[in-house]
Amino acid sequence: MNKSILITGANAGIGKETARQLALIEETELIYLACRNLEKAEIAKKELIEITGRDIFKIIVLDISKPDNVKQAVLQLYEPIDAVIMNAGGTGGKTPEKLTKDGVTELTASNLLGHVVLLDELILQNKLNNVALFASSEASRGIERVGIKRPDLKDNSVDEFVSIFDGSKFKGNFDAYQIYGWIKYGGTLWMSNMARKHPNIKFISMSPGGTRGTNGMNDLPFLKRIFLKHIGMKLIMPLMGMSHSVEKGAKRFVEGINNPKFKSGIFYASKEKVLTGQVIDQNSIWKDLGNHKFQNNADIAIHKFI
Ligand SMILES: NC(=O)c1ccc[n+]([C@@H]2O[C@H](COP(=O)([O-])OP(=O)(O)OC[C@H]3O[C@@H](n4cnc5c(N)ncnc54)[C@H](OP(=O)(O)O)[C@@H]3O)[C@@H](O)[C@H]2O)c1
Repeated sequence: MNKSILITGANAGIGKETARQLALIEETELIYLACRNLEKAEIAKKELIEITGRDIFKIIVLDISKPDNVKQAVLQLYEPIDAVIMNAGGTGGKTPEKLTKDGVTELTASNLLGHVVLLDELILQNKLNNVALFASSEASRGIERVGIKRPDLKDNSVDEFVSIFDGSKFKGNFDAYQIYGWIKYGGTLWMSNMARKHPNIKFISMSPGGTRGTNGMNDLPFLKRIFLKHIGMKLIMPLMGMSHSVEKGAKRFVEGINNPKFKSGIFYASKEKVLTGQVIDQNSIWKDLGNHKFQNNADIAIHKFI
């Protein structure tokens, strides 16, 4: 069982609900809420203490899109943690295509680059004991019913991944709603490569599934947001097995780190064509994910920006 856990993006949505569920497990002794906004983090911490009756939350101020900030945050950990849940992310804010000073798009920085730095630093400083979980998404294999296409890579080379991470592949046609899946795909391959490099730690990619009631779609263009968040997710998608509650989404993360049935290097998400229900090894429906060369290329490519 994991006694100390760090969660990125823990002040809202699935991250906050994951913190709540973990605090209700008796063996959990310490939860780091790694959030970019201190005020929001303090409000979340207060609420979590009230709902769970447990004063086991510590705030770490951390903007995951800023690698220097991430390194500072890891230095603030005086004891190793048992588990890290790399949950922060989404569709990349108001300017997802904009390049950061590290040369990646803000979409890549907030979902992936910062988590790569976080994991590298934790491992380098011997501060991670058991398990790392990356919040991936079914979008990385495409979600036909909501118009998200499967990432269509030419050869999965290092250069191609670099062009995905810095946005140059999408030349003037940057639709974050679509490209989000490509970034989660790259992150999922990176995690599987980490599993082969560090057999003493468990690396799980897990999708929370189609989870309603979070802020995840707030930055999408107006019409897409209104349709998906307020009509699709609430009314139509539950009937089609395409959306579930935030409790169910977060439960996947809690089980992902605590249940020994989940194996290192695997991406777990919903069965084909749905976004809810039982999770399965995605390699059974998409063989690319198990390709060691592709995994290695994604890992090398993201490290070119560090
Ligand atoms: N909801 C779904 O259906 C779904 C499906 C598949 C995968 N996911 C993934 O699950 C994760 C959580 O999603 P959600 O729906 O709970 O989203 P959410 O409600 O928008 O919450 C995202 C959290 O991440 C934080 N965050 C974003 N950028 C950050 C940064 N640069 N540094 C630090 N924290 C940052 C946000 O902080 P602020 O409050 O400061 O913005 C917030 O706490 C995401 O990685 C998402 O891609 C969600």
